[in-house]
Amino acid sequence: MQSILATLIPRFEWALAAAFGSELTPGAPLVAIASNPKFGDYQSNVALPLAKSLAQPPRVVAEQILEHLQVDDLCLPPSIAGPGFINLTLQPTFLASQIQQIQASPRLGIDPVADPQRIVIDFSSPNIAKEMHVGHLRSTIIGDCIARILEFQGHDVLRLNHVGDWGTQFGMLITYLSEAYPTALTTSEALELGDLVAFYKQAKQRFDTDEAFQMRSRQAVVQLQQGDPKATQAWQLLCGQSRREFAKIYDDLEIKLTERGESFYNLLLADVVSDLDKAGLLATDQGAKCVFLEGFINKQGNPQPLIVQKSDGGYNYATTDLAALRHRITQEAAQRIIYVTDAGQANHFAQVFQVAERAGWIPEAVQVVHVPFGLVQGEDGKKLKTRSGETIRLRDLLQEAVAHAQADVKTRVAKENRTESSDFIANISQVIGLGAVKYADLSQNRTSNYVFSYDKMLALQGNTAPYLIYAYVRVQGISRKGNINFADLGEALTLSLEEPSELVLAKHLLQLQEVLNEIATDLLPNRLCQYLFELSQKFNQFYGQCPVLQAADPTRTSRLVLADVTARTLKLGLSLLGINVLERM
Ligand code: ARG
Repeated sequence: MQSILATLIPRFEWALAAAFGSELTPGAPLVAIASNPKFGDYQSNVALPLAKSLAQPPRVVAEQILEHLQVDDLCLPPSIAGPGFINLTLQPTFLASQIQQIQASPRLGIDPVADPQRIVIDFSSPNIAKEMHVGHLRSTIIGDCIARILEFQGHDVLRLNHVGDWGTQFGMLITYLSEAYPTALTTSEALELGDLVAFYKQAKQRFDTDEAFQMRSRQAVVQLQQGDPKATQAWQLLCGQSRREFAKIYDDLEIKLTERGESFYNLLLADVVSDLDKAGLLATDQGAKCVFLEGFINKQGNPQPLIVQKSDGGYNYATTDLAALRHRITQEAAQRIIYVTDAGQANHFAQVFQVAERAGWIPEAVQVVHVPFGLVQGEDGKKLKTRSGETIRLRDLLQEAVAHAQADVKTRVAKENRTESSDFIANISQVIGLGAVKYADLSQNRTSNYVFSYDKMLALQGNTAPYLIYAYVRVQGISRKGNINFADLGEALTLSLEEPSELVLAKHLLQLQEVLNEIATDLLPNRLCQYLFELSQKFNQFYGQCPVLQAADPTRTSRLVLADVTARTLKLGLSLLGINVLERM
């Protein structure tokens, strides 16, 4: 079913053409959701820019538009306000019929897009043998949410985990492995590296203090690059160990990803350099092969180089990204490529995109975007750390969120004198704890830093996951109490919506599709959180003001339908954020 905006836009186009001829360009969006509900539900400010080009007063222009605007099947008679704003208010009967259609639709009236795209989303992407840190957690949560929304819209999404599994540090790591754990390579399952991070530190310390070890490490890099079986085996062992650690976090968070690390692109790197040469972009700077960038200036005021091959012949992070970009366009047929990393990598991506652009590797129809996000801070405003000042391990962080949630649930259950099984409590704590972590992250505009606080994210009031899940639970409570099966409310029913809080809720329910369309463009998941938060608030107002089970028909059924559509919208919306709901809590 068509969104209301999608219905209104052609009506305005038609009215403009009828009033002023079809050559006129409006110069502003034709119609949008009203900025303030006081003025109605939708508004058009198009008369103002048009007034200039037509040399007529804007109110006169607005009047002429209204003469030709045909919206009486969905709106009350439109009005003109102030200097020439056109305000539209939806009719209650139209709202009722739309809600009815949504209720009858498994996808809540949201059709898949007409022109699905092939989209690559590069997210999460931790580094082998290193800590997966809170920055990777943000990338994981935001990238997964964007993927879920685009998938729901019907796009063909490839979720890629561009893990850092290649580079000179592997020489050091495999050398240390063969010295400190000599049996690991010959005995299967013998490897108990435990904390890989500690392993990395030990190896690094050895590397920094022992010259002979350094020499052996450099040789090991060469061996690895040449495909030497022993070096390869050691490398695979480390990757496998890290992969198992990462998988635990992905499992907890229900994240699906295809691993395609940096090493995957090894064989394509030499071509990147030679093709840049063919394109006339390659230069040499102090023995390194590079491309001089436009718009990036170094301290001396000279163009900054992007190095694609070091003087020792090795390749860089940027070379791999150029190869990956080409592979995604030519082999994966991507029409849109989305990279989700912290804002600190904005320059890296701007440079890679620029070089690919100038080399002619990005066809006009392909969009490449970097989706940056801010830092995760502790409540003291500084980088998130443990109390003793160490970096927080992600598994600990997630477990602690679940533990906090569990403490809250137990307190509530005791206060309400309920007896609940430990399975019940464990499940609630898991859903709420992990949901709260995801929601706290997604509900912020991703470009700003966000303050990590267990207390805030787990609060039952406010813009939090528990608040939204609770609104869902309330509806399930209605169905239990009234013994209602929402699926059996009947198709031939006629809804009647009269109370202001019913109308406000119904209008909001009709806007999900428009919100998702916006996110598909600007990739800001916080819009969905805001939508769902307002939905919960509007539902709670309705619930406080309108008796449901005690009302008489047709009001009772209408309200049950509103409650059901609200719950299903919450469930769908939360699932697009990667958050589960509960039937009871
Ligand atoms: N491994 C990188 C890091 O931890 C992130 C990779 C992002 N993706 C990319 N194609 N460069 O910072």
